[in-house]
Amino acid sequence: MNFSKILLLLTTGFSVVSFGITGCTTQQQSSEADTQKPAVTVQQTEAPATTEQPQERPGDVPYVPTPQPVVDAMLNVAKVGKNDVLYDLGSGDGRIVVTAAQKYGTQGVGIDINPERVAEANQNAQKAGVSDRVKFVQQDLFNTDLSQATVVTLYLLPDVNIKLRPKLFKELKPGTRIVSHAFDMGDWKPQQTLNVDGKTIYYWVVPEKIPANLQ
Ligand SMILES: C[S@@+](CC[C@H](N)C(=O)[O-])C[C@H]1O[C@@H](n2cnc3c(N)ncnc32)[C@H](O)[C@@H]1O
Repeated sequence: MNFSKILLLLTTGFSVVSFGITGCTTQQQSSEADTQKPAVTVQQTEAPATTEQPQERPGDVPYVPTPQPVVDAMLNVAKVGKNDVLYDLGSGDGRIVVTAAQKYGTQGVGIDINPERVAEANQNAQKAGVSDRVKFVQQDLFNTDLSQATVVTLYLLPDVNIKLRPKLFKELKPGTRIVSHAFDMGDWKPQQTLNVDGKTIYYWVVPEKIPANLQ
């Protein structure tokens, strides 16, 4: 599948369950020992020190940014506020985390496997004046501890969402809101579905008890 088709799929949000990205390896199931916990309290006033590492493996999803009106609608449907801790898994240039911090004072953590994206996101946070509230970590999202999140945002792919689902159920507290641009979670039906400029947004809340059919 060529790159332009991948872009088309991401931007149109078509469901492609068996989507494969050239050069991607199959992600191993994360173990407890692998799970890394990004510090949530973010207190930086200067440009963050460069902690860039070589990319550990190809990403599961190519970089395609969410259009700003869709970002705004995602934050709006999740009703993010200053007491939230938002994790964007696969954070790209950081726009979701930065917008939440700018508009709502939300603390945010962006996780991206690509060091260039992390550097770009840090620059964007700096420019927006929100570096004291946000943090970008170069890390595999499957090896990230999500337990501090109160809101999780996603723009991944259908098969990546499905693979991530057990981890979301295991680590997120009941009541945590999840918003996904373009792709759903299979048989975990969303509480709300919105359409913004032809893009679909899905919204879920982690239940107290995970239904047996989803475990
Ligand atoms: C479609 S982009 C979404 C960017 C951003 N969330 C947005 O909506 O604008 C997906 C991002 O996920 C990152 N990514 C892919 N696989 C990843 C993985 N296993 N762990 C962390 N980041 C990953 C890519 O580098 C890319 O920046």
